[in-house]
Amino acid sequence: MGTFAREIYDVVGIGFGPSNLSLAIALDEYRTEGAGSSRSGPSAMFFERQSSFGWHRNMLLPTTTMQISFMKDLATFRNPVSPFGFVSYLHASGRLTQFVNNQDFFPTRQEFHQYLEWAAAGFTDRVRYGTEVTGIRLPAATEVGAAEPYVELEVRSGSTTRVVGARNVAISTGLVPRMPKGVQRDERVWHSSEFLDRYSRRNPSELNTVAVVGAGQSAAEITRYLYDELPHAQVYSIIPSYGYCVADDTPFANQIFDPGAVDTYFFGTDRSREAFWHYHRNTNYSVVDDEVIRDLYRRAYDEEVRGLDRLRFLNLSRVDQVKRAGDETRVSLLSLPTDETRELDVDAIVFATGYDAMEPTALLGDLDRHCLRDESGRYRVARDYRLITAPELSCGIYLQGGTEHTHGLTSSLLSNLAVRSGEIAESIIGRRAEPAAEPLLRPVVAGETG
Ligand code: FDA
Ligand code: NAP
Repeated sequence: MGTFAREIYDVVGIGFGPSNLSLAIALDEYRTEGAGSSRSGPSAMFFERQSSFGWHRNMLLPTTTMQISFMKDLATFRNPVSPFGFVSYLHASGRLTQFVNNQDFFPTRQEFHQYLEWAAAGFTDRVRYGTEVTGIRLPAATEVGAAEPYVELEVRSGSTTRVVGARNVAISTGLVPRMPKGVQRDERVWHSSEFLDRYSRRNPSELNTVAVVGAGQSAAEITRYLYDELPHAQVYSIIPSYGYCVADDTPFANQIFDPGAVDTYFFGTDRSREAFWHYHRNTNYSVVDDEVIRDLYRRAYDEEVRGLDRLRFLNLSRVDQVKRAGDETRVSLLSLPTDETRELDVDAIVFATGYDAMEPTALLGDLDRHCLRDESGRYRVARDYRLITAPELSCGIYLQGGTEHTHGLTSSLLSNLAVRSGEIAESIIGRRAEPAAEPLLRPVVAGETG
């Protein structure tokens, strides 16, 4: 492509989910703070491939609740008086009093989605919906060894592609749905990330036998939903454990989501990072909220009382493969205690089998060879979430997601969003003032890898 970037921004965000929305707010508030001084705020543009703002829309099931306090919103932990905090939204919606009367720290996901949409509406001039960034590259004119002040992004919208320039890029493209090896998605085999869309296209009366795979929050919520929505159907829940395990959200364990925990993780040793995972993985992965577990058990028990068997938990089982032919869907289940395989015919199956971390390699394309990696092949990332690059790449490439190995568990979550975006905004603004500023790296401890 022989096109050169005519638009050049200080910051270009790829994706406009909660992470980059929070960054847009932080950049805006730094700009406002700088108003009246000689400091002009950074120019910013965000590209989002969805046609309008949407946060995991296909999992917006009725009654599901947030897994963080409403105060861990887009801004409050960075700036408690931000006009984009959840309390401002409640006030603007006329529901502040009722919310307080409700005495619940955890809003429904539907209410939080409305909050996010409300905040996103404040940035329509800086977001281009329906546009997908397909690649990042150095400008064609780059001489070998010369440090380029900007990179180019290819932005596709419908059948047209244009090129924009960015002095800094914030990649925030989100989690990647994970399916068991060899299982292909189609109109009867769904991943939880596409659940409501796929479900809405089926005639419920034709769904007589359905199965949900997994023992995490998505699986439990979808099992409950299908059981309630399809009163005629047999619902199977295929879980690899003996029973659902509870998500630890007790106060001491919850401290791992504190902003300060990022420093402990980042500047810690391999041993301390390992301890985080060993002790606290059950705050987030393959676990379910206590209330949802009890809700499901209550349904199962009620079935026992009524002599029914419509909700069945196939525990200690993993899905091995799925065979599809026309309307038929045959699932092979491996029983962990016996090592035997059994087959199950279903009308639809939902794989709530989780997600892989954000992976920017494909987007970075050829630029990837300028990004440094550790001995395990993972990106090296500075404390300010900036990819550590070779000197010829002087632009900042920041990651919002995909940094669990350097910054810990909050990498893909909302918990530390406000503070993380503030740190990225500060880094971008600081580097404008002092372009040669060194990234903050963690010291390498003798005998340590990575
Ligand atoms: P997110 O995935 O939200 O946004 C990424 C955006 O980038 C998307 O809008 C996508 O369309 C866009 N995009 C991708 N590639 C693009 C490209 N090439 N060009 C342009 N746009 C592109 N965490 C938590 O702390 N508390 C909670 O309650 C929950 N709840 C929750 C529910 C469900 C169902 C899931 C699956 C996950 C959660 N999470 C969570 C974790 C979740 O990762 C988190 O809530 C946010 O979605 C993270 O926001 P991001 O903006 O980083 O990603
Ligand atoms: P998850 O926690 O990663 O759970 C995936 C589940 O699938 C695990 O139990 C896993 O078991 C199982 N699994 C994987 N392959 C399997 C196979 N072949 N056969 C049987 N089981 C298999 O994923 P998630 O539930 O989607 O949660 C992801 C994130 O989204 C979490 O942060 C969660 O909190 C969040 N979330 C939040 C809400 C909400 O806010 N209300 C709702 C949904 C999700 P193993 O562990 O043994 O692999």
